[in-house]
Amino acid sequence: MTDVSLMIHGGAGAIRDPHRYQASLRAIVESGAGLLAEGSSALEAVVHCVALLEDDPLYNAGRGSVLNAEGAVLCDASIMDGRTLKAGAVAAVRGVRNPVRLAYEVMGKSGHVLLVGAGAERFAREQRFEFEGEDYFRTEERVAQLAKAKRKHETALDHSDPADTKLGTVGAVARDRNGDLAAATSTGGVVNQRFGRVGDSPLIGAGTFADNLSCAVSCTGVGEDFIRTALARTAACFVEFRSMQAEEAARAAIGYLVDRVDGHGGLILVDREGRCGRAHSTPGMLTATFAAGGVRVETT
Ligand code: GLY
Repeated sequence: MTDVSLMIHGGAGAIRDPHRYQASLRAIVESGAGLLAEGSSALEAVVHCVALLEDDPLYNAGRGSVLNAEGAVLCDASIMDGRTLKAGAVAAVRGVRNPVRLAYEVMGKSGHVLLVGAGAERFAREQRFEFEGEDYFRTEERVAQLAKAKRKHETALDHSDPADTKLGTVGAVARDRNGDLAAATSTGGVVNQRFGRVGDSPLIGAGTFADNLSCAVSCTGVGEDFIRTALARTAACFVEFRSMQAEEAARAAIGYLVDRVDGHGGLILVDREGRCGRAHSTPGMLTATFAAGGVRVETT
């Protein structure tokens, strides 16, 4: 099979106004699919798509990230190459316009897998990364959301209104012409989170995983649930050791998340044959899929 496959997500939860996201999801997946069709690698495609999601203030990653308890934006991101099992990640970085691109450089140039805080920012400066001021990242919507969360003493939800509870994080998974897999994930974390809190998104095996032997996975949801179940790797184990196909493995992994820790969230997965799967324990999940030459956008 030489077809390329690509999936992106923009978070899971109760999506109050799905129409807000549809055009953006479609445009981003089409743009990434175009790169794959021209021969770009799965790695290049997932970085490209996640950077576009980070640039769009609709999503909780990069610009438009949620605010922590101190009113600051601190971002996490990770990437994994299924061909080599190389990985890169950053956590709690401030001011970096595209955290996923920094994760990519960590993978290729730092000699490490995960850099955090001031160390990650220093590495970004060494690599001549673009930095932005606080105003670039903070949207009015996020400022209002933090004020509401503080009034209600909530810490764990992207949206404090139960009618609009979207657990933000963005991600992408891809299979390229060579059959290589890659995954990337990026987030601003959860609204009103304690300074220093890090979720699953920058943790390989929890929020992100890719291995050509099985699949590429990107997760979204309550990070603590995904860390405790190592959910991205768990999903890959269902493909590798139980011979599940993409959709079955995605459902089995979310079943495991719910059974073991009553977890909230979802994941996207592309397997080694290029089959795509998605599953979530929340009422909805924002995804766009390019497979077999067609695009599908889903919000439930
Ligand atoms: N899944 C994103 C986070 O919990 O930080």
